Amino acid sequence: MGLTKILSSFTILLFIGYTLVNGSTPKHYIVYMGDHSHPNSESVIRANHEILASVTGSLSEAKAAALHHYSKSFQGFSAMITPEQANQLAEYNSVVSVFESKMNKLHTTHSWDFLGLDSVYENNHPTLDTASDVIVGVIDSGVWPESESFKDYGLGPVPQKFKGECVTGQNFTLANCNKKIIGARFYSKGFEAEVGPLEDVVNRIFFRSAGDSDGHGTHTASTIAGSFVANASLFGIAKGTARGGAPSARLAIYKACWFGFCSDADVLSAMDDAIHDGVDILSLSLGPDPPQPIYFENAISVGAFHAFQNGILVSASAGNSIFPRTACNVAPWILTVAASTVDREFNSNIFLGNSKVLKGSSLNPIKMEQWYGLIYGSAAAAAGVSSTNASFCKNNTLDPTLIKDKIVICTIEKFSDERREKAIIVRQGGGVGMILIDHNAKDIGFQFGIPSTLIGQDAVEELKTYIKTEKNPIARIYPTTTVLGAKPAPEVATFSSAGPNIITPDIIKPDITGPGVNILAAWSPSATEATVEQRSVNYNIISGTSMSCPHITAVAAIVKSHHPYWGPAAIMSAILTTATVMDNTHRLIGRDPNGTQATPFDYGSGHVNPVASLTPGLVYDFNSQDVLNFLCSNGASPAQLKNLTGDLTQCQQSPTASYNFNYPSIGVSNLNGSLSVYRTVTYYGQEPTTYYASVENPSGVNVRVTPAELKFREGGENITFRIDFFPFKNSNGNFVFGALVWNNGIQRVRSIIGLNVPSKV
Ligand SMILES: *[C@@H]1O[C@H](CO)[C@@H](O)[C@H](O)[C@H]1NC(C)=O
Ligand SMILES: *[C@@H]1O[C@H](CO)[C@@H](O)[C@H](O)[C@H]1NC(C)=O
Ligand SMILES: *[C@@H]1O[C@H](CO)[C@@H](O)[C@H](O)[C@H]1NC(C)=O
Ligand SMILES: *[C@@H]1O[C@H](CO)[C@@H](O)[C@H](O)[C@H]1NC(C)=O
Ligand SMILES: *[C@@H]1O[C@H](CO)[C@@H](O)[C@H](O)[C@H]1NC(C)=O
Ligand SMILES: *[C@@H]1O[C@H](CO)[C@@H](O)[C@H](O)[C@H]1NC(C)=O
Ligand SMILES: *[C@@H]1O[C@H](CO)[C@@H](O)[C@H](O)[C@H]1NC(C)=O
Ligand SMILES: *[C@@H]1O[C@H](CO)[C@@H](O)[C@H](O)[C@H]1NC(C)=O
Repeated sequence: MGLTKILSSFTILLFIGYTLVNGSTPKHYIVYMGDHSHPNSESVIRANHEILASVTGSLSEAKAAALHHYSKSFQGFSAMITPEQANQLAEYNSVVSVFESKMNKLHTTHSWDFLGLDSVYENNHPTLDTASDVIVGVIDSGVWPESESFKDYGLGPVPQKFKGECVTGQNFTLANCNKKIIGARFYSKGFEAEVGPLEDVVNRIFFRSAGDSDGHGTHTASTIAGSFVANASLFGIAKGTARGGAPSARLAIYKACWFGFCSDADVLSAMDDAIHDGVDILSLSLGPDPPQPIYFENAISVGAFHAFQNGILVSASAGNSIFPRTACNVAPWILTVAASTVDREFNSNIFLGNSKVLKGSSLNPIKMEQWYGLIYGSAAAAAGVSSTNASFCKNNTLDPTLIKDKIVICTIEKFSDERREKAIIVRQGGGVGMILIDHNAKDIGFQFGIPSTLIGQDAVEELKTYIKTEKNPIARIYPTTTVLGAKPAPEVATFSSAGPNIITPDIIKPDITGPGVNILAAWSPSATEATVEQRSVNYNIISGTSMSCPHITAVAAIVKSHHPYWGPAAIMSAILTTATVMDNTHRLIGRDPNGTQATPFDYGSGHVNPVASLTPGLVYDFNSQDVLNFLCSNGASPAQLKNLTGDLTQCQQSPTASYNFNYPSIGVSNLNGSLSVYRTVTYYGQEPTTYYASVENPSGVNVRVTPAELKFREGGENITFRIDFFPFKNSNGNFVFGALVWNNGIQRVRSIIGLNVPSKV
């Protein structure tokens, strides 16, 4: 059974779980009690039980209902209680907020597949990673510690500041931690309370430990900090050296995801521990389905705020929801990551009987030994099935007598179709290969059980012509060849979730893009569902913002190792202001599948440039007080701020306008007249220097920067400048984009500008 099949029945299960509850059925709630960390976790647990007992009626019921206790980095607990009990708890003075724990999803596309080497990324920074004590916490599906990628050759002792643990469990012993994987914990109470015991959920192998039976967590962790592994390959294809972006960074593993789903309450527990354990950076390749909940009622936003307050950068995926307004994890204190392609293609071409070659793409290791007849799925409809329905090659729509020993040409009904399943259906009917007409997904590498390949619009016409003119059309599908130096690249991935930010549109999201299409990294050999013939593999290629997020996390780890005293906002600024918006044909980055012009709502400040991010020159910094002022100016009430921070925070009388929040990009979502916007930059350099402003004007708006020259005498100096916007044409409800660039002849410090000019201008 395909993984996706399992997941879809699992989704139904979740759905039932959510809908059958009535007023008095217990649900899983997070009771958040603020940020005062308590020295003694036992007394916290006792206090939690007592307050819970006051609504459940007895201490024993309270103990049975309580699941997680958050006691290290912030305070609270989670419990199975009725909505009425939840409301009662919310009345207590010590309780800040009570919200239901929801499910997050891992952000992989269902393109499960093979191996290769991430060339663009590698070439960019072969030797950047110095001996590093940077600790990266990864909240995901665990890790396969036996992987070559987690060998700890050459690493120094575990950094002393690390307070985490190596928690043992099923198929995970103390020996599985080393100087690379320095900590491992796992969380399942939330998931099991919301869905059911792990044993009952799906008939799949799993480990009640930080051990990874899914592959996803192993992939993300090794992308961040995997050691060098020469000659990594899947089925011998696209051989190369596998490595993480920051091979000397350390990993602390927090497993909070099971079978692709991660309960809010478990994720929050992982964040509580990770902050306390002393990680420097947290990586989350997961998030809620759109629409993004408001910051005050979202576990990841709340947990990430505490991380930010503690100097920890949270890097998170924007999601794979394709469309505008779907980006998730969009709080300004989170680095939000989109996904793009690299300059590498996996071609699995089609040779036609007339000796023409059509370009197809997939991760196909299987050699087709002879020519086979071609048939459209639509021409092979089973009795009573329309030809349109048969063209999608879904189960029980194809006539086996017609597709036997044929290569079947299938089409896509909708983007979310199970492509892998189509090939299984074709094979079950006796077919030997599949050509999938799939223009929108043709750049995402899929792996099928029979020779199969995806073709785009350009190849379709030629295929059709050949079949029309040939009485007995035949073809062979060739195994994958890897093409490096593909152009244009990068392009924003078809699936990558886009802005604008639906919660606070003045903050442009996503922030940045990085490689997220067809990424090779370590895999868990016990996760076989995803691979050709369900074979075990140690390295695999998959796609998603789940894959781009760890790339950016790795860059953040490298920046942190070069600038140990930089806080999360400074690291974010360094990565954003040095990104590039040009592809390898020197044009502006486009968006797959058609190369249409992308905007900052697709890629944020642009494509990450790891080398440049080490020496950004100028930094736009902000701290948690600035974040609170920003929220105040967006209308946050004291009650909402309390929901976020746990503290009673009063807004200043006249809060700083949100467009003056010192973010490294500049957004004004309602530019209804001339406006002055302020920013402050800190100079990181030794020598005196002068930066000169230049502006790429957004269409319909004149821009003036004052002063237009920033003279710094020494490092650490701050200068505030003003940007005046003079709109002269409305932007028809859309944003118009430009940029402000500071240049001192060595560094370019680029801030994107996004403006929405309403019609009354
Ligand atoms: C704070 O959280 C509570 C849940 O306990 C919610 O009912 C309330 O609406 C939130 N307050 C604000 C102002 O968002
Ligand atoms: C897990 O451990 C058990 C007991 O040692 C062993 O039999 C089994 O093969 C292990 N499973 C995997 C997938 O390694
Ligand atoms: C690389 O891997 C292939 C199998 O994929 C193997 O045949 C070959 O010997 C390996 N080469 C080295 C240098 O390890
Ligand atoms: C085609 O598929 C749709 C949706 O699955 C179904 O409602 C319809 O009855 C099918 N029509 C035929 C002729 O198979
Ligand atoms: C297709 O349906 C048949 C029963 O009609 C079932 O045995 C088979 O497993 C299904 N195939 C897939 C791939 O779901
Ligand atoms: C890309 O172009 C194809 C063919 O012109 C079209 O069918 C498709 O809808 C376009 N896709 C997007 C996402 O614009
Ligand atoms: C522009 O919009 C702001 C609210 O965003 C409002 O306070 C201000 O009065 C508006 N100005 C004009 C000229 O309409
Ligand atoms: C410059 O700004 C940073 C960040 O806000 C602050 O930490 C630092 O103290 C300031 N430096 C000076 C010299 O004022």
